[in-house]
Amino acid sequence: MRPLIAGNWKMNGLTASSAALAHALRQGIGDLAPEMLVCPPATQIAAVATILDGSGIRVGGQDCHAQTQGAHTGEISAAMLMDVGASYVILGHSERRADQGETDALVRAKTEAAVAAGLIPIVCVGETEAQRLAGDHEAVVGAQIAGSLPPDFAGVIAYEPIWAIGTGRVPTIGDIASMHAFIRAQLVSLHPNGGGLRILYGGSVKPGNAAEILAVPDVGGALVGGASLVVDDFLAIARAA
Ligand code: PGA
Repeated sequence: MRPLIAGNWKMNGLTASSAALAHALRQGIGDLAPEMLVCPPATQIAAVATILDGSGIRVGGQDCHAQTQGAHTGEISAAMLMDVGASYVILGHSERRADQGETDALVRAKTEAAVAAGLIPIVCVGETEAQRLAGDHEAVVGAQIAGSLPPDFAGVIAYEPIWAIGTGRVPTIGDIASMHAFIRAQLVSLHPNGGGLRILYGGSVKPGNAAEILAVPDVGGALVGGASLVVDDFLAIARAA
């Protein structure tokens, strides 16, 4: 399977800057081999999808609601994301688990809603620094996987150690390899198609470390935050894949 290089723009981007980024990506992509995805803020998805239409770069959301419609002020459904050109959605990002108190059960419900609407979910898991220092990282991530994925899960997992997000600190290659092997084993034991699911690494992926990280067995791509806002950096990461 081709690697997936996904950019999470988070809460960054107004009309002009998002369009400029999308145009620059479209111009710069050339014949890059990996599958490419950008996840702009919800207000920019439609415009970015229009700019990237036919480029091979896909567009996704950063969250969706677990219900299909109704009285949920301020929320966005999976079908709404599809409607404006998204094909993926990031779910259970650690920033949402922390800021919005999203539980594994809620992430699982959102994952089911996304799949039902035809979106490919990217479900995020990862331990805090305290959990890593206590040696609990496998237990924490194992529980997140067991609780956040429906039994027939067909989507993407992103392993993002929380202490590596936006910090410039990255686990050792050995630690990335062992966590991805652990996650693969969990997926295989829980899901019939677990051997074929993509597992992305996320957390301070930059042009300078991408090649080494992306060469690790069971790393099927990257979920990129800060560096996805810089065209040259995002394209350099894609080239490294
Ligand atoms: P970062 O963010 O690349 O800025 O560390 C990654 C993420 O939150 O997905």
